[in-house]
Amino acid sequence: MSSLYPGVALITGAASGIGQATAISFAREGCRKIVLADRNEQGLDETREAIRQVSSECHVLPVKTDVSAPDSVDNLIAQAVGRFGRIDYCCNAAGVLSNNQNSTATSPEEFDRINGINYRGCWLCSRAEIRQMLEQEALGTHDGRAGSRGSVVNIASQLGVVGRSAAPAYCGSKAAVISLTRGCPRLADTPSAKVIDTPMTRPNMDVLGSAIAIAPMNRAGTAQEVADCVLFLASSKASFVQGSALVVDGGYVIN
Ligand SMILES: NC(=O)c1ccc[n+]([C@@H]2O[C@H](COP(=O)([O-])OP(=O)(O)OC[C@H]3O[C@@H](n4cnc5c(N)ncnc54)[C@H](O)[C@@H]3O)[C@@H](O)[C@H]2O)c1
Repeated sequence: MSSLYPGVALITGAASGIGQATAISFAREGCRKIVLADRNEQGLDETREAIRQVSSECHVLPVKTDVSAPDSVDNLIAQAVGRFGRIDYCCNAAGVLSNNQNSTATSPEEFDRINGINYRGCWLCSRAEIRQMLEQEALGTHDGRAGSRGSVVNIASQLGVVGRSAAPAYCGSKAAVISLTRGCPRLADTPSAKVIDTPMTRPNMDVLGSAIAIAPMNRAGTAQEVADCVLFLASSKASFVQGSALVVDGGYVIN
């Protein structure tokens, strides 16, 4: 059976958690060209090895990248296109967690750090990805429907939809990701995740436990459950989904 993913995937934050699970999922679902971006080189090696375990035919390009630095992002896209000729399925998952401080306790430096990675970094990556996609021909689809020149999936957060007094800088950075995505609807979609069990949240489960308990499913989600939504949004099966914020939160916002 032919893959839903005949093109090139590019994932930021690919060294850990949701980005890592997404990269491995692309390989498992038949994508044969994958670009891994993260500032953590050791984690990139781990992801490359995990991909090798699920697919011996997958070509992987790890690129050490700081998503908050324009030159580093430009280098990422240049290396990806230099190696594979195009990019088709981008997932921007690189991010940092809230500092667990309210606004009065947050310094301007801390605000800039969180927003520089989560918001500006996501914008820098999606801008560079979309620029490349606009130069490409559309790729064929699994069932012959009209193809697209690419898809961009930005990982926001449930905290971009609702507030948390101990995370205003983080909430703002993720609301900005959702709004940014709506601003480039032809290519981008956003899953908004609630508490997902990853290296980012594991050390803070005592703080996050009350948030988990509010949601009807009363458990943390898995990185795989977010990756599954990313793969749907990136695929030609989501051809009529544009600029949406898909909430992946165990029912938190309906409670
Ligand atoms: N885990 C959750 O509960 C949860 C919930 C909602 C949203 N999110 C979002 O999902 C995304 C992934 O989070 P995760 O839980 O997998 O966390 P994680 O810490 O496991 O992974 C994040 C990755 O981003 C990388 N990164 C951070 N800053 C970077 C930079 N400047 N340049 C390049 N790479 C950088 C890290 O090295 C790490 O590998 C983040 O954007 C996060 O805000 C996570």
